[in-house]
Amino acid sequence: MRPPRGRGGGGGGFRGRGDGGRGRGRGGGGRGGDRGGSAMKSRGGGRGGGRGGGRGRGGMKGGSKVIVEPHRHEGVFVAKGKEDALVTKNMVPGEAVYNEKRIAVQNEDGTKIEYRVWNPFRSKLAAAILGGVDNIWIKPGAKVLYLGAASGTTVSHVSDVVGPTGVVYAVEFSHRSGRDLVNMAKKRTNVIPIIEDARHPAKYRMLVGMVDVIFSDVAQPDQARILALNASYFLKAGGHFVISIKANCIDSTVPAEAVFQSEVKKLQQEQFKPFEQVTLEPFERDHACVVGGYRMPKKQKAAT
Ligand SMILES: C[S@@+](CC[C@H](N)C(=O)[O-])C[C@H]1O[C@@H](n2cnc3c(N)ncnc32)[C@H](O)[C@@H]1O
Repeated sequence: MRPPRGRGGGGGGFRGRGDGGRGRGRGGGGRGGDRGGSAMKSRGGGRGGGRGGGRGRGGMKGGSKVIVEPHRHEGVFVAKGKEDALVTKNMVPGEAVYNEKRIAVQNEDGTKIEYRVWNPFRSKLAAAILGGVDNIWIKPGAKVLYLGAASGTTVSHVSDVVGPTGVVYAVEFSHRSGRDLVNMAKKRTNVIPIIEDARHPAKYRMLVGMVDVIFSDVAQPDQARILALNASYFLKAGGHFVISIKANCIDSTVPAEAVFQSEVKKLQQEQFKPFEQVTLEPFERDHACVVGGYRMPKKQKAAT
């Protein structure tokens, strides 16, 4: 999969070349109000966000002094150098997965920790984090079902985040992408690659346990249904979902924000409770990430 092109001046130490090309200007914008009758938070603009040329690339300059600090999302870090970059602690030091930059930091006791730069132009989860999402629910020790794993770019960072005590069940139906995914999982013992159609969870039910979080990035018109079906099999009550929505994949004839709203409604009808919505711009055009809970316990009424 070719990395998407981003606008110049993206966050997190990633720069596009910005050729001043096809920008359509940002629409809407600001913190949106209530979506679909829920108390969901919404962050970021509507349609627009022109795409300049240039790919985002790892922005850490070799040789510069870098300090790595924990991000507010547990298991995610920020490398602070000339430019800041999102990073994860490499589960397999010495190995890159998609030619991403690696940063070694020496501890006071002389031991080294290696981090991998997490490119928001290549990963919607990274774009959502830089977009200010409140909670990704994916944290050390978590069990994650990942739908639409592709060749494992983001899966590898999720694997870093959940660490050796967590697990990532990574579902991908393309055999071509699946080959890379399987190869990546050979070195990452917490990744279980599953080359199946996410529309048929019964086919992989023997491989997957109950999970804390489902991350869904299948880019299909029926993605809400696919997520709901998988949740009914594998997501614990009170668990969480993170879904990336690509407006064009669902309906290219209406404004992106209308597509996001209708997807949120579909999710609400399937026992999901969306908590927040963030735009993935400027890293991905007309994409949003929606995060929420599943079969959430009813709020106890205050004792009278
Ligand atoms: C947008 S890409 C995912 C990118 C990936 N999440 C990442 O960040 O590296 C969508 C992926 O979903 C896969 N996909 C689409 N429909 C699927 C289905 N029904 N079951 C499994 N995988 C599917 C596609 O083959 C494609 O690799």
